[in-house]
Amino acid sequence: MSDIEKAVSELFESAKDASDKAYSPYSGAKVGASLLDENGKVYSGCNVENASYGLTQCAERNALAAAIHAGMKPGSAHTILIYATGFEVLAPCGACRQVISELMAKDATIISCHSKTDYLSWSIGELLPEPFILS
Ligand code: THU
Repeated sequence: MSDIEKAVSELFESAKDASDKAYSPYSGAKVGASLLDENGKVYSGCNVENASYGLTQCAERNALAAAIHAGMKPGSAHTILIYATGFEVLAPCGACRQVISELMAKDATIISCHSKTDYLSWSIGELLPEPFILS
């Protein structure tokens, strides 16, 4: 089993469960994201839309906010899995790429799936080669 297959099997159910909790009356898209920290702890989030559309929060950013709130060390999580309905394949939006780039490990893998066998994966460097950083 490859590292990606292992991550899909570890995170699939929690990301799917998170997608069931989506609040998405406007788009109808249900998105869940789960990430695994260095201690094997899983944190999840779903998309939460708003009538003022620009206030919508994506599943990935909500999962990362939940992880930070629960005490996860920034930069310590190596894998995030996105499960989405309503998309061909969901490639994370630009805002989520920026937040993933800052809060996940520098060598993080981002996986997006429809099912346990139908997925794509990227490094954060592929998704966001030139992140905005303050130093
Ligand atoms: N969405 C996510 O949750 N993650 C992304 O990376 C892209 C889009 C959500 C936001 C909105 O609720 C719906 O998908 C359609 O854009």
